[in-house]
Amino acid sequence: MTFVRLSLIVLVGVVHATLAAVATTCSDGTAVSNSVCCDFIPLAQDLQSILFANECGENAHEIVQLAFYDAIAISQSMGPVAGGGADGSVLIFPTVEPHFPENAAIDDAVNNLLPFLSMHPTISAGDLVQFAGAVALSNCPGAPQLEFLAGRQNATAPAVAGLVPQPQDNVTSILARFADAGSFTPSEVVSLLAAHSIGRADNVDPTLFAAPFDTTPFDFDTQFFLEVLLEGTGFPGTNDNVGEVASPLPIGDVSSCGSDAGELRLQSDFALARDERTACFWQEFVNQQERMAEGFQSAMEKLASLGSNPADLIDCSDVVPEATPSNGKPATFPATTGPSDLQLTCTTQKFPSLSVDAGTTQALIPHCPDGNEDCSSVLFAGPA
Ligand SMILES: *[C@@H]1O[C@H](CO)[C@@H](O)[C@H](O)[C@H]1NC(C)=O
Ligand SMILES: *[C@@H]1O[C@H](CO)[C@@H](O)[C@H](O)[C@H]1NC(C)=O
Repeated sequence: MTFVRLSLIVLVGVVHATLAAVATTCSDGTAVSNSVCCDFIPLAQDLQSILFANECGENAHEIVQLAFYDAIAISQSMGPVAGGGADGSVLIFPTVEPHFPENAAIDDAVNNLLPFLSMHPTISAGDLVQFAGAVALSNCPGAPQLEFLAGRQNATAPAVAGLVPQPQDNVTSILARFADAGSFTPSEVVSLLAAHSIGRADNVDPTLFAAPFDTTPFDFDTQFFLEVLLEGTGFPGTNDNVGEVASPLPIGDVSSCGSDAGELRLQSDFALARDERTACFWQEFVNQQERMAEGFQSAMEKLASLGSNPADLIDCSDVVPEATPSNGKPATFPATTGPSDLQLTCTTQKFPSLSVDAGTTQALIPHCPDGNEDCSSVLFAGPA
């Protein structure tokens, strides 16, 4: 009898403990499905004020890229020795992965994010990287509000080299790498590349800094998918870089700070936009903001859970900052370009009819958005 009563009391205690971990209100008043999520609210505030300045600038771009680099380092064919996917190994072993030759681009993002790991010790490195990516995207007009699942284990080993697709890789290798990492389909690979709409390259041409991939690098919009389909005419910097091909807008606005604000094109983007396995998915996104944002959202959420079973994670989507609405501008041919410059290989779809920006030269986003000649102290924010 006594034994039975004791067991009941224990049981009731367990039920209470479980309930206590469920729906709750954090100290700032945000209702969340699990108290674990509350720790991410001050983290979001710190990231926004210290790192992103609430802008879709250079630091935000780099953190989105880091979220990709961390997660893609996993392999179904090689097994666990390859890497643990979205496990924060880039932060736990900051002297290993950023030093792989192909990972030079993530150095700044790792250095920028590391202090947040010690400032928020209850949060794992893998959660920090993916959450920071979701917060970064919330600053970019047109980007979707990502779900966020918390509870990734800290990485216990670095990933091996060679798992991040490179701009000089051919389409077959790129699709194979994504399939091996997480059974991504060609359509999902193209969807993930929507991230290049806010991307800029520092290392492809070492003579350039933050060379944009399209004319609107501070908007998560479909200009990128349009502009990569245009015939290339030249290079914004030097013309012998591995992984780079000619872009349609190589000459930047020379009145901007630095004369190298021309558009840069990655060889892999060029190839994926024209390959029969991916061209129709690519063309389908042109001027289809919502379709692009939805495609990216689901592919990115799949990416963010590589290495974990989503069923083991806790849904903390409630603490992801709200998305910034798209600016609503339709895709347009940049000035000096037009429909005759399109290199379309998908013939089963009608290409949208788009207008051409007026002017005899195309203004590109200057390197110093505030017009300041001294770039060194300027945050790479959008135009005022
Ligand atoms: C993960 O590792 C970092 C760095 O060692 C540590 O600060 C953090 O507390 C760990 N987080 C968890 C949840 O284990
Ligand atoms: C693609 O690249 C891989 C790896 O470098 C190479 O083995 C393969 O032959 C290439 N395929 C094509 C079609 O060029």
